[in-house]
Amino acid sequence: MVEQTPEGTGEDLLVVERPTAGVLWLILNRPKKLNALSKQLLARVAGTLLEAETDDTVRCVVLSGAGKAFSAGADITDMTERGLDSYLDVERLAHWRTIENFAKPIIAAVNGYALGGGCELAMLCDIIVASENARFGQAEINIGVLPGDGGTQRLPRLVGKGFAMKMILGGEIIDAQEAARRGLVTDLVSAGELGSAVLDLARHIASKAPLATQLAKKAVLQAFEMPLSEGLEFERDSVTRAFATEDRAEGMRAFIEKRPPQFTGR
Ligand code: CAA
Repeated sequence: MVEQTPEGTGEDLLVVERPTAGVLWLILNRPKKLNALSKQLLARVAGTLLEAETDDTVRCVVLSGAGKAFSAGADITDMTERGLDSYLDVERLAHWRTIENFAKPIIAAVNGYALGGGCELAMLCDIIVASENARFGQAEINIGVLPGDGGTQRLPRLVGKGFAMKMILGGEIIDAQEAARRGLVTDLVSAGELGSAVLDLARHIASKAPLATQLAKKAVLQAFEMPLSEGLEFERDSVTRAFATEDRAEGMRAFIEKRPPQFTGR
């Protein structure tokens, strides 16, 4: 069943598009509430990613927001009404876990505000491409709380302790240029180029061997979980698994034969 926007526009909370082969593009579609992450919206994202995980035609996902925000974070109205229950809601937390555990490459295309949970959602994506008018912030301190969906853990890993502290303790909103300088944003492009730049990147990643990209994503993420020696073992195991794929044989054969590889995902 299609979940509709609370504003009653009759539109789906999440717009799902397939702009080119291999790429699934998800657009958070609650623009009148700056794409605040209601439980229903998170459920739509999580459910769509679960389906994408087993859909062999999906090799890379893009996540963006409709209107002037990527997302302004958790739904403050819901938090006001339900208090702690809204945060500890087991279904809400399960949706976050599903998004965090998505195995395929996922790119955040940030077109405006990415605040609080919106910044956290962007940070759990593998790559963040932002337009020059994007704004980032962990602004929870301004409403008397602190980041609760990964911000205190992922932000320092990206920008270092001092700047993460400054953002989290001060609640300031930074512009895209600063976010790029600090390492939060991977690529910065003009507002008019965001769509095409992200599509080019997604198409490029989607052209690679799908099992290898998934193994590589998991291995990179282990760098944040494991000590170096264990991470290196994990990497070796991942390469061993990649060697067992048909795509590995095809990739190397294509190189020798000086032709583009035809990857099948096997
Ligand atoms: N939740 C619910 N509604 C939100 C929202 C949010 N996070 N952010 C914006 N909205 C709503 C506003 O209430 C407003 O609705 P109405 O038109 O019905 O009044 C609408 O979206 C447009 O917002 P503004 O009028 O405020 O737009 P603006 O351009 O003047 O300001 C903004 C933009 C600076 C982003 C401002 O909306 C803002 O500060 N939003 C809140 C950002 C924030 O604090 N996010 C962190 C949330 S806490 C979190 O994420 C949880 C956690 O980890 C514990």
